[in-house]
Amino acid sequence: MSTIITQPAQVRIFDTTLRDGEQSPGCSMSPQQKLVMARALAELGVDVIETGFPASSQSDREAASLIARELRDTTLCVLSRCLPNDIEISARALEGTAKPRLHLFVSTSPLHREHKLRMSKQQVLDLAATSVAHARRFVDDVEFSTEDGTRTEEDFLAEVIGAAIAAGATTINVPDTLGYTTPAEIRGLFERLIGGVPGARDVVFSTHCHNDLGMAVANSLAAVEGGARQVECAVNGIGERAGNCALEEIAMALKVRGAYFNADTRLDTRRLVSTSQLLQRLVGMPVQRNKAIVGLNAFAHESGIHQHGMLRHRGTYEIMNPQDVGWPDSQMVLGRHSGRAAVEQRLRALGYLLEESELELVFADFKALCEKQRVVNDADLQTLMQDGADSEGYRLSSMTISDAGHRARATVELSDPDGDRLFETAEGDGPVDALFAALAMATGVDLKLESYQVHSVGLGRDARGEANLSVRHEGVEYDGTGTSKDIIEASALAWLDVANRLLRARSKAKTKSTSEMAVA
Ligand code: KIV
Ligand code: ZN
Repeated sequence: MSTIITQPAQVRIFDTTLRDGEQSPGCSMSPQQKLVMARALAELGVDVIETGFPASSQSDREAASLIARELRDTTLCVLSRCLPNDIEISARALEGTAKPRLHLFVSTSPLHREHKLRMSKQQVLDLAATSVAHARRFVDDVEFSTEDGTRTEEDFLAEVIGAAIAAGATTINVPDTLGYTTPAEIRGLFERLIGGVPGARDVVFSTHCHNDLGMAVANSLAAVEGGARQVECAVNGIGERAGNCALEEIAMALKVRGAYFNADTRLDTRRLVSTSQLLQRLVGMPVQRNKAIVGLNAFAHESGIHQHGMLRHRGTYEIMNPQDVGWPDSQMVLGRHSGRAAVEQRLRALGYLLEESELELVFADFKALCEKQRVVNDADLQTLMQDGADSEGYRLSSMTISDAGHRARATVELSDPDGDRLFETAEGDGPVDALFAALAMATGVDLKLESYQVHSVGLGRDARGEANLSVRHEGVEYDGTGTSKDIIEASALAWLDVANRLLRARSKAKTKSTSEMAVA
């Protein structure tokens, strides 16, 4: 038996972020913002960029011209109703474009014909043919869309498409305007249209699916199986109502399951995350954390079982490499559900190589910390390790800062190296000054600070303050770090970190000189 291997079909990516996406609530963009986004789309490698609907606004006309002046290698397309004046405005907006496309649309479904257009079938048919012919006077590349196509009588849909092809349309788009179809339905529809409409094999069939039932990507893929060779989509799936087919999802579905679909795109998928993030910033609409491909959780693992699997072989819980879509790496989120293996692996990455018994102790501290906060980051782990090192020194039990007229008052409670409790109160010019004075009195250590810095580590709710102190004592520099949700507490921890190092160094020096004396 011989197997016939066919070349994967090249599916064109028609991006409508700047038109269908931009016309949806909360997503409007200025012409300058559209230009910034268009540059990113061109870099991503989309085949066609729909830049707007020129007859609808001055801003859309400006954006189309601005983008046309700069992008020479990508097909630039504008949307137009089937009206002579609209077509002429659109053609003018495309002037100077290296690869121009006019995109005409008319509604074909019974509901739209009756209530929106108030037109008969014959009128719609004539309008489609005359409008496509008119558009062809301006450009060679004309796309024709049957709005609400998937809810149109199939014989009439085929008739309109045939008329548009005969009039010179080069791409036929059959939109699922209301997100109503199903994968099996749309696949069959495309197969029958491409197989049955005269001239259909000489043009490119295109799919444009909305996401009202959450099936836009699945329906677009099914249309590709049915013979569509252009997919209309938008970055982050923005678009009317529940949005359009998400560009990043269709691109990765065709890449990851390329063998199944026997199709691919020209996109440089490593630019998907940056393009998505650019759009999020431009329109101020973040995607949800669990959004496929570009959401923050798309390559993040927290549960112990998954992290353990990932550490053995990433294929256990990932079907694509994060780098292939533009993330730097997978993320092991350490939290309540994480296991020993992931904590140990993160500690190794931070340079801590622990014995089994040491790991047990740190893991117990880690679990206790997880009861207090959702996510444990690198700085937290470092603090845990530091706490272990400081168990022989002074430890902070509690502290309070209060007002003392023009000065601040700090009260600290510490445990000393023998486990005894110490209390001290001191005043200072500000909370940190008072705090350091109280710590100095409690420990009997007088630190002359060379530098003191505080900064934030991490983002959002999980951000923590980190304090760094440096002192010079008898020619040696000692550094200390403290991390806490509260920067004053972080400063106290950093101060104690330095003091404990200094005391350990002193005690080592004392032991050394005693043993040297004994030898002498
Ligand atoms: O959803 C739709 O039908 C459209 C057409 C104008 C292409 O956006
Ligand atoms: Zn649409």
